Amino acid sequence: MNISNINFKPGLEGIPVTKSSICEIDGVQGKLLYRGYDIEELAQKSSFLETAFLLIWGELPTVNELRNFEAEVQMHRRLSFRVRDMMKCFPSSGHPMDALQSSAASLGLFYSRRVIDDPKYVYKAVIRLIAKIPTMVAAFQLIRKGQDPIQPRDDLSYSSNFLYMLTEKEQDPLAAKVFDKCLILHAEHSLNASTFSARVTASTLTDPYAVVASAVGTLAGPLHGGANEDVIAMLENINTPDNAASFLKEALLTKRKIMGFGHREYKVKDPRATILQTLAEELFERFGKDEMYEVAKKLEEEAIPILGAKGIYPNVDYYSGLVYRKLGIPRDLFTPIFAISRVAGWLAHWREQLGANRIFRPSQIYTGSACRNWKPLDQR
Ligand code: SDX
Repeated sequence: MNISNINFKPGLEGIPVTKSSICEIDGVQGKLLYRGYDIEELAQKSSFLETAFLLIWGELPTVNELRNFEAEVQMHRRLSFRVRDMMKCFPSSGHPMDALQSSAASLGLFYSRRVIDDPKYVYKAVIRLIAKIPTMVAAFQLIRKGQDPIQPRDDLSYSSNFLYMLTEKEQDPLAAKVFDKCLILHAEHSLNASTFSARVTASTLTDPYAVVASAVGTLAGPLHGGANEDVIAMLENINTPDNAASFLKEALLTKRKIMGFGHREYKVKDPRATILQTLAEELFERFGKDEMYEVAKKLEEEAIPILGAKGIYPNVDYYSGLVYRKLGIPRDLFTPIFAISRVAGWLAHWREQLGANRIFRPSQIYTGSACRNWKPLDQR
């Protein structure tokens, strides 16, 4: 095959594979819009559930629509005892993202009627996934400590309830408010790897639980959602701001990636990183500073003159871990929390894919052997 005229782009870099009205990114100006609303305004004024409604159904909810959505999500937070018992069989040493992927997929067993062309089924599946994913993350946290998961509290808001189920105590309102804004910031980001997985899986017309399980597995990778954990490990390895310059020099010399830096779309600082810094500083003011934040700022200061020239700046994962750390959240739960939020974006893309579906089946450039005959063992 003459490949010279084929638009071959590893990783589909820059290749549009769908049309979407959900999210717009301006990587040069550093702008991010959900259904036309700027992320900065949503982070300031919206709530995660309102933002999830906007992403999934395309418009900000009315008073009644939001009230009903919140009430339905609250009613569906609980897990079947079968799912909890299944999670109790998971090894406590397993990664919470694997526990989440397994338990999210298991919902397809309990809600097995696949009528994805029925709007009622679609609405119910959206409610169940938005409502149950946080409960699954919190449940595994308690189960792996040898404890029984605690039931959701109907009197608490979405974010307050998650932090309560995770920590077994009611959180300060500021902690819940900051956490809810983190969920807004992570909810959607056009065709990132996990959302692309969601769309590919959705295009086969399988059930939404398989779509979300597929996306969770993709998000877990260190080049994608898993980076937030690695950023904290990197900062702890650097240990003090004075070590930042030498760490950076060594990393660049050995062609190691600075975790939390770089982005396929942004060629300036990710606007979400800037907002997360503000949220982190709000927590530090109330609950005390974190030396790792000083390390992170120093590393950014040292890196920008070198990496900035290549369009490599902090992305959403660079400061998010410092917020979660201050909220007392264990490091290996940072990516599951990313998933709690990104379920809204995955479900928005699931609905959009179904609205104008064509199964994904790209092509390839074959580089293997030409046709050849099988040889008996004694002739090989
Ligand atoms: C997320 O896509 C999304 O929207 C994702 C996300 C979302 O909301 O869904 O924003 C969430 O996944 C954020 C990214 C989290 N990952 C990391 O922080 C891991 C570290 N970052 C890199 O692995 C990388 O920047 C990527 C994966 C994020 C982007 O990779 P690209 O666009 O494929 O770029 P590349 O790997 O081809 O690198 C191009 C050049 C290379 O240098 P050269 O070989 O050309 O000399 O830039 C360099 C790379 O070495 N480079 C880096 C770097 N990232 C790219 N050098 C040092 N440190 C880095 N972090």
